Amino acid sequence: MRSFGIGLLGLGTVGRGVYRVLQENGEIIASRLGARLEVVKILVRDPKKDRGLAVPPELLTTDPQEVISHPAVDIVVEVMGGVEPARRYVLQALEQGKMVVTANKDLLALHGRELFDVASAARTDLFFEASVAGGIPIIKILKESLAANRIREIIGIINGTTNYILTRMSEEGLDFALALSEAQKHGYAEADPRADIEGLDAARKIAILASIAFNSRVTFPEVYAEGISRIEPADIKYARELGYTIKLLALARETEKGLEVRVHPALVSFKHPLASVRDVFNAVFVRGDAVGETMFYGRGAGELPTASAVVGDIMTAARQLLHGVKGMWGCTCFEQKPLVPVEETESC
Ligand code: NDP
Ligand code: HSE
Repeated sequence: MRSFGIGLLGLGTVGRGVYRVLQENGEIIASRLGARLEVVKILVRDPKKDRGLAVPPELLTTDPQEVISHPAVDIVVEVMGGVEPARRYVLQALEQGKMVVTANKDLLALHGRELFDVASAARTDLFFEASVAGGIPIIKILKESLAANRIREIIGIINGTTNYILTRMSEEGLDFALALSEAQKHGYAEADPRADIEGLDAARKIAILASIAFNSRVTFPEVYAEGISRIEPADIKYARELGYTIKLLALARETEKGLEVRVHPALVSFKHPLASVRDVFNAVFVRGDAVGETMFYGRGAGELPTASAVVGDIMTAARQLLHGVKGMWGCTCFEQKPLVPVEETESC
Protein backbone atom coordinates (compact mmCIF):
# COMPACT_ATOMS: atom_id res chain seq x y z
CA MET A 1 0.00 0.00 0.00
CA ARG A 2 1.27 3.50 -0.86
CA SER A 3 2.20 5.84 1.95
CA PHE A 4 2.11 9.66 2.11
CA GLY A 5 4.32 11.71 4.44
CA ILE A 6 2.76 14.37 6.67
CA GLY A 7 4.74 17.32 8.05
CA LEU A 8 3.08 19.12 10.96
CA LEU A 9 3.82 22.78 11.69
CA GLY A 10 2.64 22.93 15.33
CA LEU A 11 1.72 20.42 18.02
CA GLY A 12 -0.60 22.44 20.25
CA THR A 13 -4.33 21.81 20.77
CA VAL A 14 -5.09 21.13 17.09
CA GLY A 15 -1.74 19.52 16.19
CA ARG A 16 -2.10 17.05 19.07
CA GLY A 17 -5.60 16.17 17.91
CA VAL A 18 -4.36 15.60 14.36
CA TYR A 19 -1.55 13.35 15.60
CA ARG A 20 -4.00 11.40 17.79
CA VAL A 21 -6.57 10.87 15.04
CA LEU A 22 -3.86 9.77 12.57
CA GLN A 23 -2.53 7.25 15.11
CA GLU A 24 -5.79 6.01 16.64
CA ASN A 25 -7.82 5.86 13.40
CA GLY A 26 -4.86 4.92 11.17
CA GLU A 27 -6.36 1.59 10.09
CA ILE A 28 -9.77 2.92 9.11
CA ILE A 29 -8.15 5.91 7.36
CA ALA A 30 -5.86 3.57 5.38
CA SER A 31 -8.72 1.29 4.40
CA ARG A 32 -10.88 4.21 3.21
CA LEU A 33 -8.04 5.94 1.42
CA GLY A 34 -6.15 2.97 0.04
CA ALA A 35 -2.94 4.58 1.34
CA ARG A 36 -1.19 5.11 4.65
CA LEU A 37 -0.58 8.52 6.23
CA GLU A 38 2.65 8.77 8.18
CA VAL A 39 3.79 11.73 10.28
CA VAL A 40 7.40 12.38 9.24
CA LYS A 41 8.38 15.57 11.10
CA ILE A 42 6.76 18.08 13.50
CA LEU A 43 7.75 21.73 14.07
CA VAL A 44 7.46 23.02 17.66
CA ARG A 45 8.96 25.90 19.63
CA ASP A 46 9.92 23.78 22.63
CA PRO A 47 10.71 20.09 21.99
CA LYS A 48 11.00 19.42 25.76
CA LYS A 49 7.44 20.50 26.60
CA ASP A 50 5.20 17.85 28.17
CA ARG A 51 2.38 17.39 25.64
CA GLY A 52 0.59 14.45 27.29
CA LEU A 53 1.24 12.50 24.10
CA ALA A 54 3.68 9.73 23.20
CA VAL A 55 5.49 11.26 20.21
CA PRO A 56 8.88 9.80 19.23
CA PRO A 57 11.34 12.61 20.13
CA GLU A 58 13.14 12.30 16.78
CA LEU A 59 9.98 13.55 15.04
CA LEU A 60 10.22 16.95 16.76
CA THR A 61 12.26 19.82 15.37
CA THR A 62 12.60 23.57 15.82
CA ASP A 63 13.79 24.01 12.22
CA PRO A 64 10.84 24.69 9.85
CA GLN A 65 12.88 23.59 6.81
CA GLU A 66 13.18 20.08 8.26
CA VAL A 67 9.41 19.85 7.88
CA ILE A 68 8.64 21.92 4.78
CA SER A 69 11.54 20.71 2.63
CA HIS A 70 11.74 17.14 3.96
CA PRO A 71 11.80 14.93 0.84
CA ALA A 72 9.36 12.46 2.44
CA VAL A 73 6.79 15.17 3.32
CA ASP A 74 4.02 15.26 0.69
CA ILE A 75 1.45 17.20 2.72
CA VAL A 76 2.34 20.11 5.03
CA VAL A 77 -0.20 20.74 7.79
CA GLU A 78 -0.05 24.25 9.27
CA VAL A 79 -1.54 24.26 12.78
CA MET A 80 0.78 26.76 14.43
CA GLY A 81 -1.46 29.84 14.09
CA GLY A 82 -0.73 33.54 13.66
CA VAL A 83 0.12 35.34 10.43
CA GLU A 84 3.93 35.30 10.40
CA PRO A 85 5.90 33.10 10.15
CA ALA A 86 2.97 30.82 9.20
CA ARG A 87 2.42 32.74 5.92
CA ARG A 88 6.06 32.35 4.93
CA TYR A 89 6.11 28.63 5.70
CA VAL A 90 2.85 27.96 3.83
CA LEU A 91 4.12 29.91 0.80
CA GLN A 92 7.38 27.96 0.82
CA ALA A 93 5.54 24.65 0.94
CA LEU A 94 3.19 25.65 -1.89
CA GLU A 95 6.07 26.95 -4.01
CA GLN A 96 7.70 23.53 -3.63
CA GLY A 97 4.49 22.02 -5.01
CA LYS A 98 3.49 20.42 -1.70
CA MET A 99 -0.15 20.04 -0.74
CA VAL A 100 -1.00 22.22 2.26
CA VAL A 101 -3.73 21.91 4.88
CA THR A 102 -4.30 24.77 7.33
CA ALA A 103 -6.65 25.62 10.20
CA ASN A 104 -5.47 29.23 10.21
CA LYS A 105 -8.27 31.74 9.63
CA ASP A 106 -6.06 34.71 10.57
CA LEU A 107 -3.82 33.86 7.64
CA LEU A 108 -6.59 33.10 5.13
CA ALA A 109 -8.74 36.12 5.95
CA LEU A 110 -5.78 38.43 5.29
CA HIS A 111 -3.64 36.67 2.68
CA GLY A 112 -5.99 34.12 1.12
CA ARG A 113 -5.69 35.63 -2.35
CA GLU A 114 -1.87 35.47 -2.36
CA LEU A 115 -1.85 31.90 -1.04
CA PHE A 116 -4.41 30.59 -3.54
CA ASP A 117 -2.65 32.34 -6.42
CA VAL A 118 0.66 30.72 -5.45
CA ALA A 119 -1.02 27.32 -5.04
CA SER A 120 -2.60 27.68 -8.46
CA ALA A 121 0.71 28.72 -10.10
CA ALA A 122 2.45 25.73 -8.49
CA ARG A 123 -0.42 23.44 -9.57
CA THR A 124 -1.04 22.32 -6.03
CA ASP A 125 -3.83 22.85 -3.47
CA LEU A 126 -4.50 24.51 -0.14
CA PHE A 127 -7.23 23.04 2.07
CA PHE A 128 -8.76 24.91 5.02
CA GLU A 129 -11.87 23.11 6.33
CA ALA A 130 -10.87 23.60 10.00
CA SER A 131 -10.53 27.36 9.62
CA VAL A 132 -14.28 27.89 10.07
CA ALA A 133 -16.65 26.26 12.58
CA GLY A 134 -14.31 23.52 13.86
CA GLY A 135 -15.80 20.11 13.12
CA ILE A 136 -18.68 21.33 10.88
CA PRO A 137 -17.69 20.67 7.24
CA ILE A 138 -19.05 24.04 6.12
CA ILE A 139 -16.27 24.80 3.61
CA LYS A 140 -16.93 21.59 1.67
CA ILE A 141 -20.67 22.24 1.90
CA LEU A 142 -20.33 25.69 0.33
CA LYS A 143 -17.63 24.73 -2.19
CA GLU A 144 -19.17 21.44 -3.27
CA SER A 145 -22.61 20.40 -2.00
CA LEU A 146 -24.25 23.83 -2.41
CA ALA A 147 -22.09 24.99 -5.34
CA ALA A 148 -25.05 25.07 -7.72
CA ASN A 149 -26.90 27.64 -5.60
CA ARG A 150 -26.93 31.40 -5.66
CA ILE A 151 -26.34 31.86 -1.94
CA ARG A 152 -28.61 34.53 -0.51
CA GLU A 153 -27.57 34.60 3.13
CA ILE A 154 -25.38 33.00 5.79
CA ILE A 155 -26.04 33.54 9.49
CA GLY A 156 -23.95 31.70 12.01
CA ILE A 157 -22.64 31.23 15.48
CA ILE A 158 -19.05 30.59 14.42
CA ASN A 159 -17.00 31.28 17.52
CA GLY A 160 -17.03 28.51 20.13
CA THR A 161 -15.32 30.48 22.89
CA THR A 162 -17.85 33.31 22.97
CA ASN A 163 -20.79 30.92 22.71
CA TYR A 164 -19.33 28.95 25.62
CA ILE A 165 -18.90 32.15 27.68
CA LEU A 166 -22.43 33.41 26.91
CA THR A 167 -23.92 29.99 27.73
CA ARG A 168 -22.13 29.72 31.10
CA MET A 169 -23.02 33.32 32.00
CA SER A 170 -26.64 32.86 31.01
CA GLU A 171 -27.32 29.40 32.47
CA GLU A 172 -25.11 29.42 35.56
CA GLY A 173 -24.56 33.12 36.20
CA LEU A 174 -20.82 32.55 35.81
CA ASP A 175 -18.55 35.58 35.77
CA PHE A 176 -17.19 36.58 32.29
CA ALA A 177 -13.51 36.22 33.26
CA LEU A 178 -14.05 32.80 34.84
CA ALA A 179 -16.02 31.54 31.82
CA LEU A 180 -13.23 32.75 29.53
CA SER A 181 -10.53 31.05 31.60
CA GLU A 182 -12.49 27.76 31.41
CA ALA A 183 -12.77 28.13 27.63
CA GLN A 184 -8.99 28.60 27.54
CA LYS A 185 -8.45 25.49 29.69
CA HIS A 186 -10.52 23.47 27.19
CA GLY A 187 -8.25 24.74 24.37
CA TYR A 188 -11.10 26.62 22.65
CA ALA A 189 -9.68 30.14 22.76
CA GLU A 190 -7.15 31.74 20.42
CA ALA A 191 -3.59 32.34 21.64
CA ASP A 192 -4.73 35.95 22.21
CA PRO A 193 -8.34 35.52 23.45
CA ARG A 194 -9.18 39.13 22.53
CA ALA A 195 -9.59 37.76 19.01
CA ASP A 196 -12.52 35.69 20.30
CA ILE A 197 -14.20 38.13 22.65
CA GLU A 198 -13.88 41.19 20.39
CA GLY A 199 -15.48 39.33 17.46
CA LEU A 200 -12.30 39.32 15.32
CA ASP A 201 -12.11 35.54 15.03
CA ALA A 202 -15.74 35.39 13.86
CA ALA A 203 -15.03 38.27 11.44
CA ARG A 204 -12.14 36.31 9.92
CA LYS A 205 -14.35 33.25 9.54
CA ILE A 206 -17.29 35.08 7.97
CA ALA A 207 -14.83 36.76 5.55
CA ILE A 208 -13.77 33.26 4.44
CA LEU A 209 -17.36 31.99 4.14
CA ALA A 210 -18.53 35.13 2.28
CA SER A 211 -15.63 34.83 -0.19
CA ILE A 212 -16.68 31.29 -1.08
CA ALA A 213 -20.44 31.83 -0.96
CA PHE A 214 -20.46 35.02 -3.05
CA ASN A 215 -17.50 34.22 -5.30
CA SER A 216 -15.79 37.39 -4.19
CA ARG A 217 -12.74 38.32 -2.10
CA VAL A 218 -13.74 39.55 1.33
CA THR A 219 -10.85 40.28 3.68
CA PHE A 220 -10.91 40.57 7.46
CA PRO A 221 -10.28 44.36 7.71
CA GLU A 222 -13.41 45.00 5.60
CA VAL A 223 -15.72 43.21 8.06
CA TYR A 224 -17.49 45.19 10.79
CA ALA A 225 -16.81 43.40 14.10
CA GLU A 226 -18.23 43.99 17.55
CA GLY A 227 -17.62 41.42 20.28
CA ILE A 228 -19.14 40.44 23.62
CA SER A 229 -16.69 42.13 25.99
CA ARG A 230 -19.22 44.80 26.95
CA ILE A 231 -22.07 42.36 27.65
CA GLU A 232 -22.99 42.42 31.32
CA PRO A 233 -24.87 39.77 33.34
CA ALA A 234 -27.75 42.30 33.58
CA ASP A 235 -28.06 42.41 29.75
CA ILE A 236 -28.40 38.63 29.68
CA LYS A 237 -30.95 38.68 32.51
CA TYR A 238 -33.17 41.36 30.88
CA ALA A 239 -32.96 39.63 27.50
CA ARG A 240 -34.04 36.36 29.12
CA GLU A 241 -37.03 38.04 30.81
CA LEU A 242 -38.16 39.27 27.39
CA GLY A 243 -37.81 35.78 25.82
CA TYR A 244 -34.44 36.29 24.18
CA THR A 245 -30.91 35.02 24.51
CA ILE A 246 -27.78 36.91 23.46
CA LYS A 247 -25.62 35.32 20.76
CA LEU A 248 -22.59 36.54 18.84
CA LEU A 249 -23.83 36.32 15.25
CA ALA A 250 -21.87 36.50 12.03
CA LEU A 251 -23.86 37.48 8.98
CA ALA A 252 -23.17 37.67 5.26
CA ARG A 253 -25.75 38.42 2.58
CA GLU A 254 -25.84 39.59 -0.98
CA THR A 255 -28.11 42.56 -1.68
CA GLU A 256 -28.64 44.80 -4.70
CA LYS A 257 -26.20 47.32 -3.16
CA GLY A 258 -23.44 44.72 -2.62
CA LEU A 259 -22.30 42.39 0.16
CA GLU A 260 -23.23 42.88 3.79
CA VAL A 261 -20.74 41.13 6.06
CA ARG A 262 -20.65 41.76 9.80
CA VAL A 263 -20.30 40.33 13.31
CA HIS A 264 -22.07 41.57 16.45
CA PRO A 265 -24.03 40.36 19.48
CA ALA A 266 -27.74 39.99 18.79
CA LEU A 267 -30.94 39.19 20.64
CA VAL A 268 -32.17 35.78 19.47
CA SER A 269 -35.68 34.65 20.38
CA PHE A 270 -35.79 31.42 22.42
CA LYS A 271 -38.09 30.12 19.67
CA HIS A 272 -35.33 30.45 17.02
CA PRO A 273 -33.18 27.33 16.35
CA LEU A 274 -29.97 29.36 16.91
CA ALA A 275 -31.05 29.96 20.53
CA SER A 276 -30.56 26.28 21.33
CA VAL A 277 -26.92 26.31 20.15
CA ARG A 278 -25.15 26.09 23.51
CA ASP A 279 -21.67 25.71 24.93
CA VAL A 280 -18.83 25.33 22.37
CA PHE A 281 -21.27 24.36 19.61
CA ASN A 282 -21.53 26.34 16.39
CA ALA A 283 -24.32 26.47 13.84
CA VAL A 284 -24.38 27.88 10.34
CA PHE A 285 -27.64 28.73 8.60
CA VAL A 286 -27.35 28.98 4.81
CA ARG A 287 -30.11 30.09 2.43
CA GLY A 288 -29.61 29.25 -1.22
CA ASP A 289 -31.96 29.94 -4.14
CA ALA A 290 -32.30 26.25 -5.06
CA VAL A 291 -31.87 24.44 -1.75
CA GLY A 292 -33.81 26.93 0.40
CA GLU A 293 -32.96 27.03 4.10
CA THR A 294 -30.32 24.66 5.51
CA MET A 295 -28.56 24.57 8.86
CA PHE A 296 -25.38 22.82 9.99
CA TYR A 297 -24.47 22.14 13.61
CA GLY A 298 -21.50 20.78 15.54
CA ARG A 299 -18.59 21.50 17.85
CA GLY A 300 -16.89 24.71 16.77
CA ALA A 301 -13.54 24.32 18.56
CA GLY A 302 -11.41 21.90 20.55
CA GLU A 303 -8.80 19.26 19.90
CA LEU A 304 -10.67 16.36 18.29
CA PRO A 305 -13.52 18.15 16.46
CA THR A 306 -10.96 20.42 14.78
CA ALA A 307 -8.66 17.48 14.07
CA SER A 308 -11.58 15.72 12.39
CA ALA A 309 -11.73 18.57 9.84
CA VAL A 310 -7.94 18.76 9.41
CA VAL A 311 -7.51 15.01 8.88
CA GLY A 312 -10.47 14.99 6.46
CA ASP A 313 -8.56 17.60 4.42
CA ILE A 314 -5.34 15.57 4.64
CA MET A 315 -7.25 12.59 3.23
CA THR A 316 -8.67 14.70 0.38
CA ALA A 317 -5.15 15.93 -0.42
CA ALA A 318 -3.77 12.37 -0.28
CA ARG A 319 -6.59 11.09 -2.52
CA GLN A 320 -5.69 13.72 -5.12
CA LEU A 321 -2.01 12.71 -4.92
CA LEU A 322 -3.01 9.07 -5.27
CA HIS A 323 -5.01 9.78 -8.42
CA GLY A 324 -2.57 12.34 -9.87
CA VAL A 325 -5.09 15.21 -9.88
CA LYS A 326 -3.16 17.77 -7.84
CA GLY A 327 -4.17 21.41 -8.34
CA MET A 328 -7.84 20.75 -9.14
CA TRP A 329 -9.12 23.58 -6.90
CA GLY A 330 -6.94 26.29 -8.42
CA CYS A 331 -9.28 27.33 -11.24
CA THR A 332 -12.00 29.31 -9.42
CA CYS A 333 -12.62 32.77 -10.94
CA PHE A 334 -13.56 35.51 -8.50
CA GLU A 335 -15.53 38.65 -9.16
CA GLN A 336 -14.77 41.52 -6.74
CA LYS A 337 -18.09 42.70 -5.27
CA PRO A 338 -18.51 45.92 -3.22
CA LEU A 339 -19.18 45.76 0.53
CA VAL A 340 -22.08 47.79 1.92
CA PRO A 341 -21.02 50.08 4.84
CA VAL A 342 -22.49 48.75 8.09
CA GLU A 343 -24.57 51.93 8.67
CA GLU A 344 -26.45 51.15 5.44
CA THR A 345 -27.10 47.46 6.11
CA GLU A 346 -30.46 45.90 6.88
CA SER A 347 -31.08 44.44 10.34
CA CYS A 348 -31.10 40.64 10.84
P1 NDP B 1 -1.66 26.29 20.10
O1 NDP B 1 -1.16 27.62 20.58
O2 NDP B 1 -2.25 25.35 21.06
O3 NDP B 1 -0.48 25.51 19.32
C1 NDP B 1 0.41 26.15 18.47
C2 NDP B 1 1.54 25.18 18.16
O4 NDP B 1 2.40 25.75 17.19
C3 NDP B 1 2.42 24.83 19.36
O5 NDP B 1 2.77 23.47 19.29
C4 NDP B 1 3.65 25.72 19.19
O6 NDP B 1 4.85 25.09 19.68
C5 NDP B 1 3.74 25.80 17.68
N1 NDP B 1 4.30 27.09 17.23
C6 NDP B 1 3.68 28.30 17.24
N2 NDP B 1 4.51 29.24 16.74
C7 NDP B 1 5.65 28.61 16.42
C8 NDP B 1 6.89 29.05 15.84
N3 NDP B 1 7.09 30.33 15.51
N4 NDP B 1 7.85 28.11 15.63
C9 NDP B 1 7.64 26.82 15.95
N5 NDP B 1 6.50 26.34 16.49
C10 NDP B 1 5.51 27.24 16.71
O7 NDP B 1 -2.71 26.65 18.94
P2 NDP B 1 -3.99 25.80 18.50
O8 NDP B 1 -3.59 24.40 18.24
O9 NDP B 1 -5.13 26.10 19.39
O10 NDP B 1 -4.35 26.51 17.10
C11 NDP B 1 -3.58 26.29 15.95
C12 NDP B 1 -4.30 26.91 14.75
O11 NDP B 1 -5.58 26.31 14.59
C13 NDP B 1 -4.59 28.41 14.88
O12 NDP B 1 -4.51 28.98 13.60
C14 NDP B 1 -6.01 28.44 15.39
O13 NDP B 1 -6.67 29.65 15.07
C15 NDP B 1 -6.61 27.29 14.62
N6 NDP B 1 -7.79 26.67 15.20
C16 NDP B 1 -7.81 26.36 16.52
C17 NDP B 1 -8.91 25.72 17.06
C18 NDP B 1 -8.98 25.33 18.50
O14 NDP B 1 -10.04 24.84 18.92
N7 NDP B 1 -7.95 25.53 19.29
C19 NDP B 1 -10.06 25.37 16.22
C20 NDP B 1 -9.92 25.73 14.82
C21 NDP B 1 -8.82 26.36 14.34
P3 NDP B 1 5.07 24.79 21.27
O15 NDP B 1 4.02 23.77 21.60
O16 NDP B 1 6.43 24.26 21.38
O17 NDP B 1 4.83 26.10 21.95
N1 HSE C 1 -11.06 30.26 19.10
C1 HSE C 1 -11.88 29.65 18.11
C2 HSE C 1 -13.28 29.50 18.64
C3 HSE C 1 -11.31 28.30 17.74
O1 HSE C 1 -13.47 29.61 19.85
O2 HSE C 1 -14.20 29.33 17.85
C4 HSE C 1 -12.04 27.65 16.59
O3 HSE C 1 -11.84 28.33 15.39
